[in-house]
Amino acid sequence: MRVSVIGCGYLGAVHAACMAKLGHDVVGIDVDEQKIAELSTARAPFFEPGLEELLGEVQATGRLTFTTDMAAAEGSAVHFICVGTPQKKGENAADLRYVDAAALGLLPYLADGDLVVGKSTVPVGTAGRLAELIRDAQPGAHLAWNPEFLREGHAVQDTLSPDRFVYGVPGGSEDHAAAGVLDEVYATPRGMGTPRLVTDYATAELVKAAANSFLATKISFINAMAEVCDAAGADVTLLADAIGMDERIGRKFLHAGIGFGGGCLPKDIRSFMARAGELGADQALTFLREVDTINMRRRTRVVELTREMCGGSLLGQRITVLGAAFKPDSDDVRDSPALSIAAQLQLQGAVVTVTDPQALANAARRFPELNYELDIEEALRNADAVLLLTEWRQHRDLDPFATIQLVRNARILDGRNALDPQKWRAAGWTYRGMGRP
Ligand code: UDX
Repeated sequence: MRVSVIGCGYLGAVHAACMAKLGHDVVGIDVDEQKIAELSTARAPFFEPGLEELLGEVQATGRLTFTTDMAAAEGSAVHFICVGTPQKKGENAADLRYVDAAALGLLPYLADGDLVVGKSTVPVGTAGRLAELIRDAQPGAHLAWNPEFLREGHAVQDTLSPDRFVYGVPGGSEDHAAAGVLDEVYATPRGMGTPRLVTDYATAELVKAAANSFLATKISFINAMAEVCDAAGADVTLLADAIGMDERIGRKFLHAGIGFGGGCLPKDIRSFMARAGELGADQALTFLREVDTINMRRRTRVVELTREMCGGSLLGQRITVLGAAFKPDSDDVRDSPALSIAAQLQLQGAVVTVTDPQALANAARRFPELNYELDIEEALRNADAVLLLTEWRQHRDLDPFATIQLVRNARILDGRNALDPQKWRAAGWTYRGMGRP
């Protein structure tokens, strides 16, 4: 099928490459000229495992091109909207300007029978509104809402073989033509048994908001337990192991630490609360405010623990922060808890050096006042305290015996509970975890 993908960021670039991998003829469209120039030469404009290899592979087939010209969407049967929906400045609500611009920009190129597919995370009600716009401009075109559940760091695999597909179509009927078109687009993963649910627009939009809210709640739940464990002298990692053995609960997303960040969970729960307020259902989601508060409190807690470890004052203390990305295997620093903690420590008088295998360029753009060092040994040299804040493999694998030779004071704060406390203590370190004695 001929497919256009509008927006080539973390979602769209991966989606475009994966659609070509599934055998479609794909054009990726973005307003950012530099991004398009890189993608056109099979370079990924951000770090995502496997993406660059995939771009190279599918571009060699001639099935994937990139352009800044929206007119290139003409002639495609399916148009995916994959632009970002960031948080509005100073408000909880999502900023829909990019989604609106993508839809409006596409209208002149829509033909009879075309299907526009929204993948961006939007407040419930957006699809209905856009469907009217499309109907007015091209009555023969349809809109479907098909939320994306990919995780950064696993984006290629999550796109090629997701857990499920959700198709939001008008009226929610399986017989709607849009469901048939999407089945054709996803024929390969559907053939491998990936289930799909057909719903109305509102349900499809809410599925995404609900999924991310549930994940955020799970993380804040275990972080709340970490606070209680700290107070009671208990171990939250063992507590999570034990409750996670109950299949109804499950061990995944019960890693206590410095909390969640990134371009999705924090802004999605806030925009969900804002939208529920507009709908008069704000009481239903007041618990998400608490989820957000628990999450933000983790960052303050780390600053306090670091101060304690450093003998009561951060002034002049050399702190090495391992990790800048919001999670490992990503260079994304949007709302990264690691960077937010690093900046706080620096503001309070510490001399902070941040190291990360992939995210330093993005981090330096956002927090130019911090020191950055790619070489992990250099970053550790003469540190008064080391903070593991993003659990990259190279951070988890640090050898406590070798590392102790580099630092000035052997203090480690394990913000992700990713290290073996016994091993680090045996090597002579003062070890602190999050919610473990
Ligand atoms: C998330 C959803 O998982 C995905 O389905 C959706 O499409 C987009 O938002 P992502 O933002 O890539 O994906 O990251 P995710 O793996 O969910 O992690 C989010 C944050 O939570 C990270 O900062 C991570 O470190 C943190 N986290 C995750 C925890 O602190 N504890 C956990 O147990 C799990």
